[in-house]
This record gives sequence, C-alpha cells and structure tokens, in this order.
Amino acid sequence: MHTLESIVLTCAQPTGQLHVGNYFGAVQHWVRLQEAHTCYFGIVDLHAITVPYKPADLRRSTLECMAQYMACGLDPQKSKLFVQSHVVGHTELAWILGCLTSLGRLERMTQFKHKAQRRGQAVSSGLLTYPVLMAADILLYNATLVPVGDDQKQHLELARGLVQKFNTTYSETFRVPEPAITKTGARIMSLQQPTVKMSKSDPNPNSAVFLLDPPERIRKKILCAVTDSGNDIVTSPEKPGITNLLRLLSTATGQSMSDLEHTYAFQGYAVFKRVLADALIALVEPIQKRYRELIEDKAYLKEVMKEGAAAAQTRAYKTLSKVYRKCGFCEPVR
Ligand code: TRP
Repeated sequence: MHTLESIVLTCAQPTGQLHVGNYFGAVQHWVRLQEAHTCYFGIVDLHAITVPYKPADLRRSTLECMAQYMACGLDPQKSKLFVQSHVVGHTELAWILGCLTSLGRLERMTQFKHKAQRRGQAVSSGLLTYPVLMAADILLYNATLVPVGDDQKQHLELARGLVQKFNTTYSETFRVPEPAITKTGARIMSLQQPTVKMSKSDPNPNSAVFLLDPPERIRKKILCAVTDSGNDIVTSPEKPGITNLLRLLSTATGQSMSDLEHTYAFQGYAVFKRVLADALIALVEPIQKRYRELIEDKAYLKEVMKEGAAAAQTRAYKTLSKVYRKCGFCEPVR
C-alpha cells in the first residue's frame, strides 16, 4: 500500500473570546503545523447549538472567531479554514457513526456527565451525541493528526474506536487519527485561581487575559493576579501563582524560566508584574491590529469562508460517497 498524505484537522467552537492560554496552548501550535502539513481548521457552529444560544450571537461570533484565528496567524493561503455548517457531510456522517455507537458509551463520557449534571432536565440529545459529531468532523477528512486539549482526549478516543468499528463492520475505510496533545509547558492557569486552567467560560473576567483586551485592562488584570505568600520570584509547587506568571512571561518572550527567576528574583512582585503586563501588551498589539482590519472587512472574511468550504467540501464529498457505498445505500439517479 502506498503511503497516504498526512492530514491535520482541528476545530473550535465559536464561543467566547480567545485568551492567552488558548494562544500559547493551542493556536500557536496550529499556526506552526500549517507550515509543514495539509491542515483543515473548522469553526464548529453545529456543536455550538447543543446548548441554549441566540442565533444573532452565533452568527456574529462565527465571524469574530474566524477573524481572531486569522489574526493569530491561521492563513487561508496555507490552510483550509471553513465553517462546519457550510460543508455537507458532517451531520450525514454523524448519523451513520451514531448508528455504530452505543448509548451507554455516550452516557459515560466525562464531559457529557458534567454538562448534564449542570443542566439537569434541560439537556438535549445533541449534547449527548456531541462526540459522535466530533468524530464525524475528523473522519470526514480522514485526518491523521488531531491537535486537541487534554479535555478532548476522551472524545478523540471515541473517534479512534469508531474508525475501528466502521472498518470492521464494513471494510477498511478510515485511518486511525493520532492526538497531538500540546505540551504541558504551555499550560496557562487562571490568574485568579492558579490551580485551575485558564478558561474561556470562567465567570470571573479577571481570570484570563483575552487577546482583544485593551492594554489598560491587561495591565489591571496582571496587577491583580493572585500571587503567593512571600515575595520571592521563583517557580515552586507551593507557589502556583507566581509560577504561572513566570510561565506566561517565559512563553511570551521565549526566555527560559530559570533566566527569568535569575533576573527578577529579588525585584518584587510589582516590578515583575509590570514587565509581564508590558510583554503581553506587546504580544497582543499586532494581533489586535490585524483583527480590526479583518473584522471591518466582512466581505473578505466571507470570501475566505467560501473558499475554505469549497476546498473542505471536495474532500468531504469523496469520503461521503465512499461511505454511502460501503453502507449499502443505493446509488442515486442523477
Ligand atoms: N469539541 C471540541 C472542543 O470543544 C471542538 C471540536 C469539534 C473538535 N470537532 C472537533 C476538535 C474535531 C478537534 C477535532 O474543543
């Protein structure tokens, strides 16, 4: 058998704003991958409707989300940037994969259990089958490498299982996708609670620095970031606050943690925080500038989406027609 091209696929929900944790932990990594691989990047609006939402908000945030990723360096010349609902095949394949997935397996998914607990009676069946749609996103492009965060590992495991299930139920069709879990070095924690990961959905806005925060707000958030008792600037498991801030500065500037400890050891938190705030402001400045240009040019953004969808659709239709044949669906008369 000849070796097939490797395909990278990842997706993001168009909810919430990107913060520096997303940037260092995920987006930067994807930007690098597009230099050496064929990359598909989807904004998954169909996933976003698994919980209550407002249509006008979804429409706006889909555009804003695309603009933010592009401002960070995802490049439509290099990658296929598309919106999930623009491509026929995601929901079709999800249906077929759903017929191969046991109900119990879905009910046992950690993320579903957490979300269902929070929502009680109001949980939709879409929330339950969410991981099947995610598997369809991956299999539709026959992706080989899927960059995901820790929290998505179990979903990817389901997708891998479905590859095997499909291949044995019908015949060899899909490749088993490998996870690309980003290194722990870039794991940025909440500024207010340094033992939990920085999160888009944290209700406390001071817990994260968003890429689109104005400079004064970034400065304020860093100045009020939680630190630890004492005033030494060292990394230590007993000092999760300052360790997190050191990691942020190290990731933002490329300087090693030990160099930074050496430089700032006895300078005090106030000085250190000022340096960190300046570094983050410098980091987001070009991103914000590019974002403003993009978001003001909706026609261009829509053109990017259109071209991305067309490229994604070509590959999606190939997979889908193969799958339909294997499933025994009668060929349509055209
Ligand atoms: N569930 C993912 C998240 O919330 C988003 C997602 C949907 C995804 N489909 C995917 C990620 C396919 C990788 C591959 O982060």
